Amino acid sequence: MSARSQSAAMEGSGWYNRHSSMQAAGNERAMAYWKDALEKVPVGGENIVIADYGCSQGLNSMKPINAAIDVLRRHVGAERPVEVYHNDLPSNDFGSLFQVIAGEPSSYMAAHGNAFPFAIGRSYFEPILPPASVHAAWNSWTIQWMSKKAADAPDHVFGGMSGVAEVRAAVAGQQAADWGDFLNLRSRELRPGGRLLSIFPACTPERRGWEYLGGELWEAVLDIHADGLIELHETHRVTIPTGVRSLADVRAPFRDSGRFAGLEIEHAEVLDGPDMFWEDLQRTGDVKYFASGWAGMARGFAGPTIANALDETRDRSAIIDAIFQRYEARLAANPQRHEHYFAVVVLAKVGER
Ligand SMILES: C[S@@+](CC[C@H](N)C(=O)[O-])C[C@H]1O[C@@H](n2cnc3c(N)ncnc32)[C@H](O)[C@@H]1O
Repeated sequence: MSARSQSAAMEGSGWYNRHSSMQAAGNERAMAYWKDALEKVPVGGENIVIADYGCSQGLNSMKPINAAIDVLRRHVGAERPVEVYHNDLPSNDFGSLFQVIAGEPSSYMAAHGNAFPFAIGRSYFEPILPPASVHAAWNSWTIQWMSKKAADAPDHVFGGMSGVAEVRAAVAGQQAADWGDFLNLRSRELRPGGRLLSIFPACTPERRGWEYLGGELWEAVLDIHADGLIELHETHRVTIPTGVRSLADVRAPFRDSGRFAGLEIEHAEVLDGPDMFWEDLQRTGDVKYFASGWAGMARGFAGPTIANALDETRDRSAIIDAIFQRYEARLAANPQRHEHYFAVVVLAKVGER
């Protein structure tokens, strides 16, 4: 598979931090589960180790990491050193992450002394940290990204929403394999009694979600093709390698014994996703704000991946501008609530307490 069809990190120069209020709102809904899970993590005489798998530009990580430091230090004292490991793909905008850590009032460095941030630019489908080293692992809105693209969809930006059964099956197969691999790798890195909380786009047995935002994005790509800016083969290649999981998918590796790779599920739930821009629109009638809010979010997660899928001879940034301008116009002309779902899964590493 060519590099251009793989996923890229989020839109850089701090764009993701400025356009990820949907993800922040979802994270907020998981905070109570995170704090409950942290309460059960044993801490001995060692440094506290917190991992943030798929941190992007970091702003949305500050609150959960602050909470982890607060809870994990409760029994061992405020002076206990804390190591915080932020992980993302090598192409991630780590500069923006370090600016957040150094300068944001919400940074855990502002609130806590004796905390030491580190960053690891490597896919988490490889080992990230030493075995049995991590007390608490945060992982939000990342594991929908597949380790590799399963297939090109000729008819949608999301393979899981393609009309082609083979494409949908390839996505489901890749998602299942990636979930097992991710759990295996993370389990090795957790200390006995450590906890991992993972949040990711999900579906219910009845509802998939993302039809509105995903469908309009595909139409915007077709608009640009109709304008002669990109070729048909490029529209096929823009397939974004992400997908949703059901609770049954989440539980599948645990089906036989209740355990998988030394992990147990402590909590798994699918929640209704937030649409802050729709709520604002009901209050203000400001359709431009609605459309630019969702277009900014979509560009944040999909812009670089779509750019990579275009022919190398293209002025990629001009085409990405054109796609997302068209997308914003489409959303403004046809505003709808963004129906989507997300899973909150808490896993415990089984072992000596
Ligand atoms: C939507 S952002 C989530 C950022 C943040 N956790 C939040 O809650 O807003 C998804 C991040 O996952 C990262 N990601 C995707 N696949 C990854 C992988 N295999 N290894 C590490 N990071 C990955 C992306 O680069 C991106 O920064």
